[in-house]
Amino acid sequence: FLVEKGNFRHFMAKEMHEQPEVVAHTLAHYLDMANETVQLPELPFDLAKLERVSIAACGTAYYAGLIAKYWFERYARLSVEIDVASEFRYREAPLPADGLAIVISQSGETADTLASLRYAGQEKQHLLAVVNVPTSTIAREAHAVLPTLAGPEIGVASTKAFTCQLATLAALAVAAGRARGVISAEEERGLVHALVEVPRLMNRALDLGPEIEHLARSFAKTKDVLYLGRGTSFPLAMEGALKLKEISYIHAEGYAAGELKHGPIALIDENMPVVVIAPHDAVFEKTMSNMQEVAARGGRIILITDETGAKHAALETEATLVMPDMNPFITPLVYAIPIQLLAYHTAVVMGTDVDQPRNLAKSVTVE
Ligand code: G6P
Repeated sequence: FLVEKGNFRHFMAKEMHEQPEVVAHTLAHYLDMANETVQLPELPFDLAKLERVSIAACGTAYYAGLIAKYWFERYARLSVEIDVASEFRYREAPLPADGLAIVISQSGETADTLASLRYAGQEKQHLLAVVNVPTSTIAREAHAVLPTLAGPEIGVASTKAFTCQLATLAALAVAAGRARGVISAEEERGLVHALVEVPRLMNRALDLGPEIEHLARSFAKTKDVLYLGRGTSFPLAMEGALKLKEISYIHAEGYAAGELKHGPIALIDENMPVVVIAPHDAVFEKTMSNMQEVAARGGRIILITDETGAKHAALETEATLVMPDMNPFITPLVYAIPIQLLAYHTAVVMGTDVDQPRNLAKSVTVE
């Protein structure tokens, strides 16, 4: 089949802009929107009885899994271990009876992720695949599949598949929380309501495009960028760094904001931008005090926060991207957009091949 770019310059741009629609589509598959409850297809295992969850994935899908770990732990009190699939497959990790292994993959063909699924199968785990290609090998070999309904993704750097993975995993975490008696019916409604809001909030985030395009001009002149976040914003910081290095070839690292003083603070100077993902959530103040340390050393801060956060930040920044206020549960889905836009516009300024970056493949089917 043929997928066209339409009015967009690159597939990546088209796919970023499709996110409100495909995330809505994915959410509609897993939620009863009218009653504000989760409604998953029947699973061949009991969420209430799970001992532990093990997640394996590669690249962007791995960061979706890391975010889901925070959700499963917080909303379902399920302990989660997660590893990149290339490590998981050889680690010989003992996996408990009544353990659930989740693999996450856009293509469903990534060799290391498939091998991780097979290892978990040998260890007698329940096998769940979150995949975008329903006919893929991983989908066929898993006991159950939760499809992400992102549609074909052409850009090598994953965007809409990532947010659809998050939408699916968020619904699963809420379902697990309900099944395990951790969240009440009322809390479930609150979380589902927050998810239903995501497509609208994503459109607001996309409106930041021109501002981010402007910012990208100075970004394109730098050699290194540090991305920081706490809580679910920490994996998103790593995803932001990955997006930037994949398509602009600028070196970037994602770090937990609290780890700043254990190393990366030594790198702070007036040249290296520090992108801080800090919605006004329970850990906002902690992140801000880390940022004061960056500011005190003359660091260049790009703050991505919300209206309330921008009011409370009391911080000298080079730029502040202001997102709408939202439930902290859903921030990774919506904050994914400014970090994607920043990588995209920087790559466009650099003149790289955005959809086909050098040395990278869309699907890595060899080890
Ligand atoms: C490659 C792609 C990434 C992707 C990763 C995992 O590295 O360039 O965008 O996140 O593979 O692929 P998968 O298909 O398993 O999600």
